Amino acid sequence: METMLSGIKPTGRLTLGNYIGAIGEFIKYQDSYDMYIFIANLHAITVPIEAKELRKNTKDLIALYLAAGLDPEKVTIFLQSDVDAHAKLGWVLTCLSGFGELSRMTQFKDKSQKQESGITAGLFTYPSLMAADILLYDADYVPVGQDQTQHVELTRDLAERFNKRYSDTFRVPKPLVTKVGAKIYDLQNPEKKMSKSEANPKGTIDLLDDPAAARNKIKAAVTDSLGIVQYDPENQPGVSNLLTILSALSSEPIDSITARYEGKGYGELKKEVGDVVFDFLTELQARYNEIIKSGVVDKVLAEGAEKASRIANKKVRKVYKKVGFTI
Ligand code: AMP
Ligand code: TRP
Repeated sequence: METMLSGIKPTGRLTLGNYIGAIGEFIKYQDSYDMYIFIANLHAITVPIEAKELRKNTKDLIALYLAAGLDPEKVTIFLQSDVDAHAKLGWVLTCLSGFGELSRMTQFKDKSQKQESGITAGLFTYPSLMAADILLYDADYVPVGQDQTQHVELTRDLAERFNKRYSDTFRVPKPLVTKVGAKIYDLQNPEKKMSKSEANPKGTIDLLDDPAAARNKIKAAVTDSLGIVQYDPENQPGVSNLLTILSALSSEPIDSITARYEGKGYGELKKEVGDVVFDFLTELQARYNEIIKSGVVDKVLAEGAEKASRIANKKVRKVYKKVGFTI
């Protein structure tokens, strides 16, 4: 079985976009791959974050993943900070990364340009840590969003560099750009992706939103004046976005939905999408609440950390020998 690994930063609340574009995809993959999903909390402090917020995001994230259907029997779920090997290999790879090559990372350039003060060295070197995250587990595939592909390319370069300088140690991973999962757009501004960092909460549906409030957001979604229910993202981005959401949550193909809507208006479509979102959130949150109460999160993390550490520590021991730390 091939290995798949991905990390999620616990930096904000999860949205319906995260569910449809990422979590739902992981759940589909869990039967076909040896899968590792970790909470990238070492990465979360590359920008300022309150300890209290980080703690809450982390717990919510795990509980929501479990509630959505990620199965700890099939997937190794763990906290990055529970497995020391990440920081250890991260340092070795930081020392193998060029200052120039890290300077070319577009995400660093974007983020450091937006934020005038308080840019940390951690934000600069985090791609080397991300490479360690991936290489520790000999991942074949790394499902990521478009913005992360450059970091996976760097990971490949670092793996090859290490293998060449020392000897064959790391498997060279491939990015898997998650275009399989549909992209969900902001309900108020359907040209923009639905994002947890969006200031206008009317355009975003959080997975922990009150289901009735979420239904109202769908009702208030921006559409157009054409009045025909059809999938045309270019000319009808708002309606197409609603169709994508409905299709993703109900598994009904978009063609079949639009066929049902011949001669019908946006009001009816919004009602159906609103109801489906309402039911989806209601069920998800019921499972989430049970999971939070049950204490299962702690158990999943303890087991995940144990399994991940076993594999990762073995890799670090090899690396420490090869670089000359073990005498
Ligand atoms: P982010 O929330 O940007 O850290 O992304 C976490 C994961 O969710 C990545 O795999 C993204 O590609 C995915 N994701 C985030 N927002 C959306 C969206 N609006 N539609 C589809 N996928 C998304
Ligand atoms: N850097 C990724 C992000 O910002 C999160 C991440 C950290 C990651 N380590 C990873 C993703 C390893 C995939 C594999 O979203």
